[in-house]
Amino acid sequence: MAKHAIPIPFTNIPLNPAEEVPLYRQLYDGLREAILTGKLAGNTRLPSTRTLSQELGISRNTVMTAFEQLLAEGYLQGKVGAGTYISDVLPDDLLSPVTRKKAVPKRSASNRGLSERGKVLAGSPVSISRDHGRDSGKPRAFQTGLPALDVFPFEIWARLLARRWRRPTLNMLGYGEPEGFKPLREAIAGYLSAARAVRCSPEQVIVVGGSQQALDLATRLLLDPGDAAWVEDPCYAGARGSLQGAEAQVISVPVDEEGIDIAAGMRKCPEAKMVYITPSHQYPLGVTMTLTRRLALLEWASKAGAWVLEDDYDSEFRYCGKPLAALHGLDSDNRVIYIGTFSKVLLPSLRLGYIVVPPDLVDAFVGARALADRHSPQLEQAVLTDFINEGHFSRHIRRMRALYAERQEAVIEAVRAYASGLIEVRPTEAGMHMVGWLPDHLTDREASQKAAQAGVTATPLSAYTIDLQRKNGLLLGFSAVPPKDLREGMKKLVKALS
Ligand SMILES: Cc1ncc(COP(=O)(O)O)c(C=O)c1O
Repeated sequence: MAKHAIPIPFTNIPLNPAEEVPLYRQLYDGLREAILTGKLAGNTRLPSTRTLSQELGISRNTVMTAFEQLLAEGYLQGKVGAGTYISDVLPDDLLSPVTRKKAVPKRSASNRGLSERGKVLAGSPVSISRDHGRDSGKPRAFQTGLPALDVFPFEIWARLLARRWRRPTLNMLGYGEPEGFKPLREAIAGYLSAARAVRCSPEQVIVVGGSQQALDLATRLLLDPGDAAWVEDPCYAGARGSLQGAEAQVISVPVDEEGIDIAAGMRKCPEAKMVYITPSHQYPLGVTMTLTRRLALLEWASKAGAWVLEDDYDSEFRYCGKPLAALHGLDSDNRVIYIGTFSKVLLPSLRLGYIVVPPDLVDAFVGARALADRHSPQLEQAVLTDFINEGHFSRHIRRMRALYAERQEAVIEAVRAYASGLIEVRPTEAGMHMVGWLPDHLTDREASQKAAQAGVTATPLSAYTIDLQRKNGLLLGFSAVPPKDLREGMKKLVKALS
């Protein structure tokens, strides 16, 4: 498009009506720059807005808006309409170094000015989680951690949301309680007691912005820099990242068919102050921790005075046998801190989860949470409360359990049909993904790269291992897309790997 530069006689500010930036902003920028670079000296009187608008061929309103902004920011003095002057109080040393059009700095990694803690946070390879960077675009076959967005009950959610918006109470509009919306805490406590055998009062339930905030709070509140903490090997990257962020010493403890190996942990670091575990469905291997191991873990934790962080992220989806109770219910020593999320069972974008803490720690967690971000959005908490209390939540879980069982079956069948001899899968009893084991000649990283080149997401298992040397595997998420797409994805994956 042709550029119609309109010079202002004394500053030569180019104004271009065809540009995306509004004219008032172009005028504001030009005047500001002229002032800061000394082209327009202090106490210079500007023409009236009427004169300027005629000279520039733009509306008077446009000139007034630019002037008002410059007046508000202190570059001009006086009253619009009664003589406007360049401010005479701009300190000289502010004027000279100001560059003309300051380039927007490019994003680049640097430790400039970071605290020691800041360097640790910035250096953590998982602070922008490998598991979930950005879930943008269409969900892909084998993507992990993403629920079935295609069947979320949007109509019901929209109805509940509209109802809350139509008659908002003051409570919905002002600041809320940092511990969360009371009726939601009651609903969560009720659900946990019925479905997960978690024994807690609503006062112990703190609503947080997803499990990640729970992990961040727990690690920072309960560990001093240098304290040792056991993690499962392989381990969920978000938990490892929080521990590193709290400057803990991360001790990897191998996982076998029974879950985390307590004896190995005790050999490696008996005096650890914390252990992070996913007992219902180990992330990423999918193992369920046996009762013997659970009891051994609690016994060690009691003796060592260690905290147990139980991350129960996707236990709602269990496909065979009776749902296993949470570890929390076995704890008689107030050592277990239970973490749950609505990211898997509803939507990750809600950023709602909860942490159940021992009664004597409630105030500390609530205080730290308030400092972090005050509280989770009130309205979403209220809508979620209605969603639970009116029965939609348990209906949604039942539907998703059946749907995910079907989607898992589709992956197993697709492996049988297209990938025998190349990928081996064993049905998972719970969760939203399984491991596709690879032959030894193909490393999982290499396989994952080849898959990515063919447009298939398949995260390598080794992205989560710490010290463990283990057979190669790819994580195969089955929740996010329908069976047809999973079959197509498997064909592409096999073609890429063959
Ligand atoms: C082991 C584990 N914990 C927790 C979460 C959920 O994180 P958030 O609640 O912060 O969305 C995930 C998501 O993938 C996960 O894999």
